[in-house]
Amino acid sequence: MKTCFSAIQPTGIPTLGNYLGALRNWVNLSREYTGIFSIADLHAITVRQDPGDFRRRVRAVYAICMASGLDFKNGAVLFPQSQVAAHTELTWILSCFTMYGELSRMTQFKDKSLKNSDNINSGLFTYPILMASDILLYGAAAVPVGSDQKQHVELTRDIAVRFNGVYGDVFVLPEPFIPDMGARVMNLQDPKRKMEKSDPNPNGYISMLDDREAIIKKCKRAVTDSGGEVRYDEKLKPGISNLMTIYSLCAGKSLEETEREFSGQNYGTFKTAVGEAVNTALAPIRDCANEYIGNPAHLDKLMNEQTRRATELAAPMLKQVKNAMGFVAD
Ligand code: TRP
Repeated sequence: MKTCFSAIQPTGIPTLGNYLGALRNWVNLSREYTGIFSIADLHAITVRQDPGDFRRRVRAVYAICMASGLDFKNGAVLFPQSQVAAHTELTWILSCFTMYGELSRMTQFKDKSLKNSDNINSGLFTYPILMASDILLYGAAAVPVGSDQKQHVELTRDIAVRFNGVYGDVFVLPEPFIPDMGARVMNLQDPKRKMEKSDPNPNGYISMLDDREAIIKKCKRAVTDSGGEVRYDEKLKPGISNLMTIYSLCAGKSLEETEREFSGQNYGTFKTAVGEAVNTALAPIRDCANEYIGNPAHLDKLMNEQTRRATELAAPMLKQVKNAMGFVAD
């Protein structure tokens, strides 16, 4: 069975956008691949984190991913990135196979440097090397990511090709796996922007831990247009189109079916139906995640077991890399 790898940054509680665009695909892929999934806490420290919040958030994100239905029977593993030291060790090695010019061309680095102009630390710059290490350590063939991360997966391939060119076929070349629909769930208050977990306005996103009332309230308040027709048109009706995408993914209906179902109905009725569909999709995950969050001792035990497995899975590749390069064996 081939391996897939992906990770999510604990920069906030995952949103409906993370669920529809990422977690749901992880769950599906974990049935066909050995799914290795990580909470990318090391990536998150490129911006300052408050220690107490950070610890709580990593646990909550872990609980949500645990609850989302990954196929652990099929060998899926879920662990916090910082607990498997091989990731940082391989990062140093691969940094000697990554060119300054390549990193300078990363569009995310350019965007993030503009946004964090008071803290353009070198971690922000070398972030894609840590990501390459995450992927290459486990020999992942498929990497489910949003389109914003595609360039980083391509860089990972370039690094792997460069390394393999010198030392033989050590690394598996990964392919980005970009789902078409749902990859972009937009902000409810500003449907031209992506729904993001770190957004300052909580009405713009639905958190995976929001209860039914909060979900419905946020859907009702979602910004739409002054028309009254539930019809898909990203340009003229970005708000309604976003709600239609959300509804169709949560209710398992096509956009055409959705359009037909709500033809002649007003926005209020449609928005309530969207809220109910979202709640139905998220409720089982939310309830299960809250149980984990309410029992931290149990959660930590699961985390430790999973981390031990990930550590075992990562070890052979790091060893092979060091061996191939001529490091004195330990
Ligand atoms: N950088 C990714 C993001 O911000 C998260 C991530 C870290 C990741 N390591 C990864 C994604 C490896 C895919 C593979 O979304």
